[in-house]
Amino acid sequence: MQNMVKNMELQDLDIKTVRPAALPTPLRFAGNDDHTRIRYREDTNRVMLRAAFDMGEDQSGLSFERAGPRSHIAYDPKRMTAAIVTCGGLCPGLNDVIRAMVMCLWHRYGVRNILGIRYGFHGLSDPEIRPMELTPQVVQDIHKDGGTMLGASRGYESEEMVVNGLVRYGIDLLFVIGGDGSQRGAHDTWTEIERRGLQIGVVGIPKTVDNDIAWVDQSFGFDTAVTVATAVVEAAHVEARSAHNGVGLVKLMGRDAGWLAAYASLASMDADVVLIPEVPFDLDGDHGLIPYVRHLLAKKGHACLVVSEGAGQHLFDGQRTETDASGNVRHHDIGTYLRERLSVALPEASLKYFDPSYVVRSAPANANDSVFCARLAHNAVHAGMAGKTDMMLGRWYAKFTHIPLNLVAKGTKHLNPRSAIWRTVLEATGQPSMSR
Ligand code: F6P
Repeated sequence: MQNMVKNMELQDLDIKTVRPAALPTPLRFAGNDDHTRIRYREDTNRVMLRAAFDMGEDQSGLSFERAGPRSHIAYDPKRMTAAIVTCGGLCPGLNDVIRAMVMCLWHRYGVRNILGIRYGFHGLSDPEIRPMELTPQVVQDIHKDGGTMLGASRGYESEEMVVNGLVRYGIDLLFVIGGDGSQRGAHDTWTEIERRGLQIGVVGIPKTVDNDIAWVDQSFGFDTAVTVATAVVEAAHVEARSAHNGVGLVKLMGRDAGWLAAYASLASMDADVVLIPEVPFDLDGDHGLIPYVRHLLAKKGHACLVVSEGAGQHLFDGQRTETDASGNVRHHDIGTYLRERLSVALPEASLKYFDPSYVVRSAPANANDSVFCARLAHNAVHAGMAGKTDMMLGRWYAKFTHIPLNLVAKGTKHLNPRSAIWRTVLEATGQPSMSR
C-alpha cells in the first residue's frame, strides 16, 4: 500500500455521485441545542490517509472523505427501491449489517421498498432466483444468527447480467456486502451502469475474516473470528501441554494474509510458532521448522503451532492455477501437509491437528463486531442516500470513511513482516527466522 500512496493524487480519492443530492434529508436527531445537536457531515470533512509520518516528510494532503449523514439526499425515499446483496464466503456480522441497513432505511429515511437479493450476485443474474422483501419485521432478530439470511455465493456470470437484474427489479441503490473480490464486482457493476447511462448507486461494505481489504484498518467479522480462533489455539495448547511431546497444530483462514493467525496467537499467548503467507519458511535444514519443533520438545516438552492457510505455498511442487468462483487461486493444503511432515519427521511427537475454518466463519458476531456492523451499515445508508456511488465504507484510524472502489480493487492488505504487529508476534512467541 505504501507504493500506492507514492503515486496517488488527491483526485484519486474523489467520491462519485450518481445523482445530485437535491432534497433535504428527513433525518432528525435528538438534541435541540448546540451541545447535543448532531451535525451533518460535509464532503470537506476529511480523514488523513497517513496518520504516522516523519517530521518534515511531505504529507501531500491525501485524505479520505469522512462518512456520516448529509444534510441533503439524492432519492425520494417513497419512490425508490434499495437492495442488499451478500457476496463471497460467510463472515460473522452479515446479518447484523443487513438488519441495521433495513432499520436505517425504513425508520430513519422512510424507504419502503427494500429488496434482499438471494445468493450473492447470482440472485441478480438469474431471473429464476427471486429477491425477498425486507422489512423491520423480517429482519428483527436475524443478528442473533451466524451466516446470512439472504444466502451468499462466490463470483458472478457478468456485470451485464448483474445490471440486467438491477433494471429488472427497478433497483435505484445497491449495497454490496463482500470482500475484495466482491468489491471488484461492485466496481465492475458500476462501470456497466455508467456505460448504460443509468442512475443506480452502488455502495460497498467491507467483509472478511481474513481482514485483507485494502484501506480499511479492520473489516467486520474479524474481531469475532479472532475470538473464536483464539479458543481453538488455546485448546491446541492444552492438548499439547497434556501429552508427552505434545504438538498442537492449528490451521486458520487467511488466504493471502496472516492477520487472523497473528491476532489469535497474540490473544492466546499460547503459540510457539506462527506461520503466515507473508513470511516464507523452510521445513528442514538448520533453520527449518522441523528442527525448531524438535528443539521446543526437548526444551519444554510441547509445542503449539499456528499456520495460515496461505502460508508455505512455496513448499509444494508446481504453482497452482486452479481458481475458485471468486477468481482466487486454490491453495495447497498447508495444514494437512505440515501434519504429515511433522508426524514422519518427529515420530516421538503426539500431534493433534485443528482446522476450525468454517466454525470461525459461521459464528454470530460478538459484541464489538455487532457495534461495528451497525456503524458501518448506517454510514453506508447515509452515503447511498446522499447519492454517492462506486465507493465502499471504510474505517481508518477509528474514523469512518468513503473509499473509491477503484482503489479497493487495486490490491489487498498484507501483514508487513517489518511492521510493529509482526514484531510483537516475534517477541511474544520467541520464534527465530525459519528461512535461510
Ligand atoms: O475469503 C475468505 C475466506 O474465508 C478465505 O480465508 C478462504 O480461503 C476462503 O474464504 C474459503 O472459502 P470457501 O471454502 O467458502 O470457498
